[in-house]
Amino acid sequence: MTAAHTQPGASAANKGAWEPEIIAFCCNYCAYAAADLAGAQRMQYPPNVRVVHSPCTGKIEMEHILAALEKGIDGVLVAGCLEGGCHFIEGNLRAKHRVEHIRGILDEIGIGADRLRMVNLSAAMAPTFVERVREIVDTVTNLGPNPLKESAQQGVVSK
Ligand code: FES
Repeated sequence: MTAAHTQPGASAANKGAWEPEIIAFCCNYCAYAAADLAGAQRMQYPPNVRVVHSPCTGKIEMEHILAALEKGIDGVLVAGCLEGGCHFIEGNLRAKHRVEHIRGILDEIGIGADRLRMVNLSAAMAPTFVERVREIVDTVTNLGPNPLKESAQQGVVSK
């Protein structure tokens, strides 16, 4: 997976007023195309969201999501193709189950399930991408900083 877009102002958490750091894992097909279209059409979304490319949401393993949260990322959005539209047939359905499973874990350990969400998009759904990004930023802002952030910064959590 590769980081594709980082809007200006990322890592605002280090600059005074806390802003959540969000990663949007986007599949290489519809979701990334929607994110790209949002950029091309100059749709505004919060700058503290880093878009990370993945071949398919089915390739986003639990470890990727948990590692991001362990490192102090405040929220994760998993964005894939519409159900029935995955270029790897069932990748997004596997991702959906994985996301639900991890959300359960996040609730159990007190981190909050709402730090992790999934959205299904077609390539033309740039406005929906932007809307979902704004939603997760708002939700995570209300939840506050990831409780693991301080441990990650102190090097308590493995990198
Ligand atoms: Fe988009 Fe699988 S290729 S979710």
